[in-house]
Amino acid sequence: MAETLFTGIAQLVTPAPGPQRGAAMRELARLENAALLVRDGVIAWVGAEKDAPKVSQTHDLGGVAVVPGLIDPHTHAIWAGDRLADFEARLAGVPYEEILARGGGIRSTMRATAAASVGELVHLARPRLEALLRSGATTAEVKSGYGLDFGAEVRMLEAVRELEATFPGTLAPTLLIHVPPTEGREEYVRGVCEELIPAVTARGLATAVDVFCEREAFTVEETRAILMAARARGLGVKLHADQFHALGGVELACELGALSVDHLEASGEGQVAALAASNTVATVLPGVTLHLGLPAAPARRLVDAGACVAVGTDLNPGSSPLFSAALALALAVRLCGLTPAEALTAGTVNAAAALGLRDRGALVPGARADFLALHSADWRDLVYTLGENPVRDVVVGGQHIKE
Ligand code: NIG
Ligand code: FE
Repeated sequence: MAETLFTGIAQLVTPAPGPQRGAAMRELARLENAALLVRDGVIAWVGAEKDAPKVSQTHDLGGVAVVPGLIDPHTHAIWAGDRLADFEARLAGVPYEEILARGGGIRSTMRATAAASVGELVHLARPRLEALLRSGATTAEVKSGYGLDFGAEVRMLEAVRELEATFPGTLAPTLLIHVPPTEGREEYVRGVCEELIPAVTARGLATAVDVFCEREAFTVEETRAILMAARARGLGVKLHADQFHALGGVELACELGALSVDHLEASGEGQVAALAASNTVATVLPGVTLHLGLPAAPARRLVDAGACVAVGTDLNPGSSPLFSAALALALAVRLCGLTPAEALTAGTVNAAAALGLRDRGALVPGARADFLALHSADWRDLVYTLGENPVRDVVVGGQHIKE
């Protein structure tokens, strides 16, 4: 039995376990001069240091704030090529959707990614995931979606599996059906439902399926067909919806009981009300707001209406080259109007729920011992700091990964 008592915690701050919605997102538990006991990778006890059980191994954190490990519920961390020419074109005034419609954007990343081997994809993605981990993400979702042809989609998921073998935290693989081929989209959707999803499920390569529901991507009806096929195979379902246009993707997500619906920059009152009345997590991606200059998702209104809001980086080369989970929370406070407490809940227990995970995100007995020691004694520095990493130590399953 491996036991370590972590002491020297000026402030231990955590949301309550399970997804939190509405005003409950602001209710953090805060313990001063705390200690935390880890047994076999799981939190065994949390309390005041003076009441701590006596154990042979202790680790003094030196008087800093401790928060749960962050969970990044939305990344496209695997890609080849770059989007630097797109970046310049956009700065010169060409819209993101127009670049995509001309065959660039996501489609150019698909060409580069489809041409790469699994080994090359792993080599390119590893440092990105390491950066996320250093920024506090002890769990990260990773999507496919730059494959287009089915073989390349499967290679992306094989790359996630290979990365999992060396990543100290947890990776959650999602099959993303991103944009349709320029010809034969009906056969493509049928193939996704009848060949790709069964093949991916049979090999256990993904735990969820995501569809980009948008004018330049899939219609609501195509999205429905793909997600129904995923659900029939026992996979979780997610959507990219309302990034540019509110087409009905949010309503579909709520109807299907999706784990999450992500983006929401174009969502209005109807979508906010639908999400508030559902158990689907509303995931906002402030890196996209910053990088594309889009309106911010209505996170403030979503919380006020009683929805369950999560925050992700959306790490990808086109719309959000954001390599820090902590910075995603800092941006959610500035751009989306979340309070610091709401942002912490959004990046921990609510992000876990967006991945269908219930064993992490809160520092309570029985949860995975994934936590962060900050440089600061005040946890609010996690979401205050810009451009410097507020995270000093990353602890995964009770093991120090970064000090
Ligand atoms: O979540 N909008 C759709 N998909 C990604 C962007 C992918 C890309 O631009 O390469 C997103 O923003
Ligand atoms: Fe995305």
